[in-house]
Amino acid sequence: MTTLDQPKTKPRQPVLTTSLPGPKSAEIMQRDAAELSTSYMRPYPFVPDHGEGVWLTDPDGNTMLDFFAGIAVSTTGYAHPHVVDSVTAQMKKFAHVCLTDYPQEITTRLAERLVRHIEKPGEKWRVFFGNSGAEAVEAAIKLARNHTGRSHIISTLGSFHGRTYGAITLTGSKTKYKAGFGPLLPNVTHIPYPNPFRPPLGSTPETCGDAVLAYLETLFKTVIPPQEVAAFIIEPMQGEGGYIVPPAGFLAKLRRMADQHGFLLIFDEVQAGMGRTGELFSFQHPAVGEAVQPDIVTLAKGIASGLPLSAMLAKESVMTWAPGSHGSTFGGNPVAAAAAHATLDLLEGVVKHPGCGDSLMRNAAEVGAYILAELRKMQAEFAFIGDVRGEGLFIGIEFVGPDGSPDGKLRDAASQAMFERGLLNLDCGESVIRVSPPLILTREDAQTGVEIMREALRSLS
Ligand SMILES: Cc1ncc(COP(=O)(O)O)c(C=O)c1O
Repeated sequence: MTTLDQPKTKPRQPVLTTSLPGPKSAEIMQRDAAELSTSYMRPYPFVPDHGEGVWLTDPDGNTMLDFFAGIAVSTTGYAHPHVVDSVTAQMKKFAHVCLTDYPQEITTRLAERLVRHIEKPGEKWRVFFGNSGAEAVEAAIKLARNHTGRSHIISTLGSFHGRTYGAITLTGSKTKYKAGFGPLLPNVTHIPYPNPFRPPLGSTPETCGDAVLAYLETLFKTVIPPQEVAAFIIEPMQGEGGYIVPPAGFLAKLRRMADQHGFLLIFDEVQAGMGRTGELFSFQHPAVGEAVQPDIVTLAKGIASGLPLSAMLAKESVMTWAPGSHGSTFGGNPVAAAAAHATLDLLEGVVKHPGCGDSLMRNAAEVGAYILAELRKMQAEFAFIGDVRGEGLFIGIEFVGPDGSPDGKLRDAASQAMFERGLLNLDCGESVIRVSPPLILTREDAQTGVEIMREALRSLS
């Protein structure tokens, strides 16, 4: 039986025993509201208590199907036995010594494994480990400036790169991330992201990539001396900004421009990377065209199935900073590294997950194709779905008003209707719902999710 065959057993369904939140969850939510930072948002009244596979259960016994994976993090779902075994074995050896000062075989081996997916003959890469996506981005900014001796960084509108000072400066998705926090990093410029559904600068879906690069060339002639640009940072498929795939060939043209002006190309793969699109890195997906090599890659989120770990990969020729110039107490923690090894085992198919074919990467491609096809049928049924896009299990559904403009209110109503039917989901962009489930999602569980989405959308129309 291939992954795409019709399931033979009745798919598992969410279980809603109480209205949400139930009494135990409500009590925890009340304590949470009293004690935790006021910056946290609580868009859904769900309190996870334990998980199994792609299912999360609250203390009142309500079980939800997870289509957001803690924002594209829980690659192998919850309590995956291979991850649990790997982490437990490392915990029994040691939990921390500090990678900045002492080499550790498990982390060395993880670096070897990661660079194998990017190195080309004659081009060696190296790895710096941190704990979060923002830390990987900070490391990338520091390395780019340190290596080039230049200061300016170009980023894109709609991007999200994290919450630390450098990372929020580069972020271009929402001003609320920056309001009241300035001054931010100097010498950062944002240009539009080539979004084929909403082509910027008066362009078309086909020409939006060229329009963006022409705009940047204009900036280089008028306001930013290109010889002062250290790097261009971009998500090869944009996450928080709306799950957007740029036109094929754009990244190759950007690569040529970077070479012409001598700045580095940083691909932020924190959200779209680690197998989610069906390729380990989204920039290697054929949908973005000819494969191009960046100079620096940032990874986090799905790398360790929920344990805090990030990596900044850089060409050896670029990683020229001096010993002691950058480091981290916890970065590259061996327990997180153990989780990353187990995650890679499943992604690469060294260890197989029942019902998910040869590897989780292939599974992401196949189950993602099924969900995309079903969502495109819904797009034909509901006029308020303006666009369905993505690759693998990196999928965006854009909600539009009658005039085609983004309809965030309708998106919120759809998201709520899905949640009330037992599907955990999350918004992004102005009016998009992202579908970013764990990569162990089987065809059967995907079908359950698709049916919930269809029913929720019908309830709106
Ligand atoms: C593309 C991208 N880069 C960086 C980050 C920041 O990661 P973290 O929240 O782990 O710092 C995120 C988080 O959403 C992201 O999507």
